[in-house]
Amino acid sequence: MHTLADSSIRPLLHIDAVDVHYGAVQALFGVSIEVRAGEVVSVLGGNASGKSTTLKSVLGLVRPSKGRIVLDGKEIQGLRPADVIDLGVASVPEGRRVFPDMSVRENLLLGAYPRRRDKAAVAADLDEVFQAFPRLAERRSQLAGTLSGGEQQMLALGRAWLRRARLVCIDEPSMGLSPKFVDAVYEVLFRWKDAGQTILLVEQNARIALELADRAYVLQHGHVVLHGRAADLAADPAVQEAYLGGEGPEMVPAPNGQDA
Ligand SMILES: Nc1ncnc2c1ncn2[C@@H]1O[C@H](COP(=O)(O)OP(=O)(O)OP(=O)(O)O)[C@@H](O)[C@H]1O
Ligand SMILES: [Mg+2]
Repeated sequence: MHTLADSSIRPLLHIDAVDVHYGAVQALFGVSIEVRAGEVVSVLGGNASGKSTTLKSVLGLVRPSKGRIVLDGKEIQGLRPADVIDLGVASVPEGRRVFPDMSVRENLLLGAYPRRRDKAAVAADLDEVFQAFPRLAERRSQLAGTLSGGEQQMLALGRAWLRRARLVCIDEPSMGLSPKFVDAVYEVLFRWKDAGQTILLVEQNARIALELADRAYVLQHGHVVLHGRAADLAADPAVQEAYLGGEGPEMVPAPNGQDA
């Protein structure tokens, strides 16, 4: 794995001075983000700061009006989403879209569809995912639509795992989950990171994202206002004040169980 000091290494992903407009509304202003192979990079920020738009620009779901998106030396801005996926980028979108009328196992195998001929490797990876997510293993024959929100989030992550993608883009995996499920989802992300997976992670839950990430970028109104090593950002009083809720614990259980 590379060290960050080694600036001679070309990043796997370089979002380079990207602007995005939605009609007359500008959502991103000269956003630049680098992700090196093997790194977990997190994009933090409040609501409407442009986090999802940043991911969508990588995935070909929105087209930058300015700037470049470079994947392993190749400019990909303006490519169709299917072509970006073909280049080895996987997506776990906000709202964990699973196929409700297919079983857990079938949903997972869809992730492996591009390499379905490699049956032995896919079977081994499926075992690995079932080990990482025992809840999915227990429910492998259950219809995905009957899973809880937290379980569906796990399924969406497991499906991306089976892609063996070069880069996985994950949007708010903790959204709407109880603290227990957030921990369970992040446990899997830690394992995935340890296995060497390169991840671009969008999160509002800065506390947990900064624990997982190697580096992070903070977006505000479509601008990168801070970036650096995750550990340095976590120790930064301005970040603590704005995103980590001061000194105390950030996660407070919902009063009436409005949770996954
Ligand atoms: N399809 C769209 N059409 C018009 N405006 C949009 C569209 N998608 C996003 N925007 C606007 O772009 C800005 C950034 O939105 P984005 O979804 O990237 O924010 P976010 O940081 O992911 O927010 P959240 O934390 O709420 O998910 C917002 O002001 C939003 O209203
Ligand atoms: Mg979003």
